[in-house]
Amino acid sequence: MQIPKVNQTPKVIQTPKYKKILLTGVNGQVGHALQLALANQSGLFAELVCLDRSQLDLSNPQAIRDVVQAIQPDLIINPAAYTAVDKAESEPDLAYAINATAPGVLAEEAAKLGAKFIHFSTDYVYAGNKIGVYVEDDATAPLSIYGKSKLAGEEAVRAVGLPSLIFRTSWVYGAYGKNFLHTILRLAKEREQLRIVADQIGAPTSSHSIAQAVVEVLARWDGEHSGVYHLVNAGRTTWHGFATAIVDAYAQLQPARDWPMLKAKVANIGPITTADYPTPAARPANSCLDCTKLSSDFSVQLPDWRDALMAELEALPTN
Ligand SMILES: NC(=O)c1ccc[n+]([C@@H]2O[C@H](COP(=O)([O-])OP(=O)(O)OC[C@H]3O[C@@H](n4cnc5c(N)ncnc54)[C@H](OP(=O)(O)O)[C@@H]3O)[C@@H](O)[C@H]2O)c1
Repeated sequence: MQIPKVNQTPKVIQTPKYKKILLTGVNGQVGHALQLALANQSGLFAELVCLDRSQLDLSNPQAIRDVVQAIQPDLIINPAAYTAVDKAESEPDLAYAINATAPGVLAEEAAKLGAKFIHFSTDYVYAGNKIGVYVEDDATAPLSIYGKSKLAGEEAVRAVGLPSLIFRTSWVYGAYGKNFLHTILRLAKEREQLRIVADQIGAPTSSHSIAQAVVEVLARWDGEHSGVYHLVNAGRTTWHGFATAIVDAYAQLQPARDWPMLKAKVANIGPITTADYPTPAARPANSCLDCTKLSSDFSVQLPDWRDALMAELEALPTN
C-alpha cells in the first residue's frame, strides 16, 4: 500500500513547551497584554507566574535572585522597565538599576537554571539620523539616559550568553495603560486645537500586537535563534499622523459606541517641530525599524499600525 505524501505535519503541542513561565511587570502595557495573550495559550506552558513591582522589585538585585531561585522558571519574560523617558534624565541611577542592572541579573539567574530569557528594548537605542529604515545590526547611539540605560540592559543580557531574545519595539500604546492614545483623547476632549510633533517618524505599536507576536514566537522558538529583533507594527507615521488617525478613528466609532464627542477635529490638529516642543530627553527623528529578521526567523509579522489602532479603540469601554 502506498502511503500518501503529506506536505506538512500538523503541529500538535502534546506536552507544554515551557514548564513554568515567570512574567514581570504585569501592570505595565506589554506585561498586561502578555498576561492576557498567554492565558489563551494554555497548551504552551504548564504554569504562568505573573509578578508586579510589589512582588518583584527590579531595583533590588538580591530580591531578583531570591525570587527567581524560589520560582525556578524555565522561561523568564521581562517587559518591566523604567519607562519615564524625560524623568530618567534626572533619575539616571534608578533608570540604570531597572533597565540595565536588573535584566543582567535576571539573565544570570535564568542561566543558572538553564532557562530562556525574553527581554524588551526600544527604538531609542538609535540616534535616529539614519536615512532609511534601521536594521538590527545598525550602529546604536542613544540620545537619552533612557535609551542608554536600555542599551546597557541589552548588553548585560548578551554578556550572559544564554538563549535570549531582545525585542526592540517603539511608540507602545493600547486601550490599557498610560500612553499617547489616552493623552490625545483626553486633550481632544478638553481643547479645540492640538499641536503635535510632525518631524519624528516611527511605528505606533499596540501592546496587543506585541503580545500576540511574542506568543507566536514562543511557540516556534527552539532556543537556536538568540539576539536582537525589531518588533513593531507595519507601516510608519509621525506623532502628528498618529494623533490625527486616533481622532479620525474615534470619530468613526463614536456614534455607535455612545462615546463623548471630541472638541478637536482632525483639521484642528496642527503639525509642529521637535524644536517647538522641547523635552528634557532628546528623541530620535527616525525611529523606523525593519522587521525582516523577525519574519525570516520566526515567520511572524505584525499588522499595519492603523488596523492595530482600530482594534485598540474598539477595546475601549463604551460609555
Ligand atoms: N512605552 C513605550 O512607548 C515603549 C517604546 C519602546 C520600547 N518600550 C519597552 O517595552 C517594554 C514594555 O514597556 P511598557 O510600555 O509596557 O511600559 P509600562 O507600561 O511603563 O510598564 C512598565 C512596567 O514596569 C514596572 N516597573 C517599573 N519599575 C519597576 C521596578 N522597580 N520593579 C518592578 N517593576 C517595575 C511598572 O510597574 P508599576 O505598574 O508598578 O509602575 C510597569 O508595570 C519596556 O522594556 C520598554 O522599555 C516601551
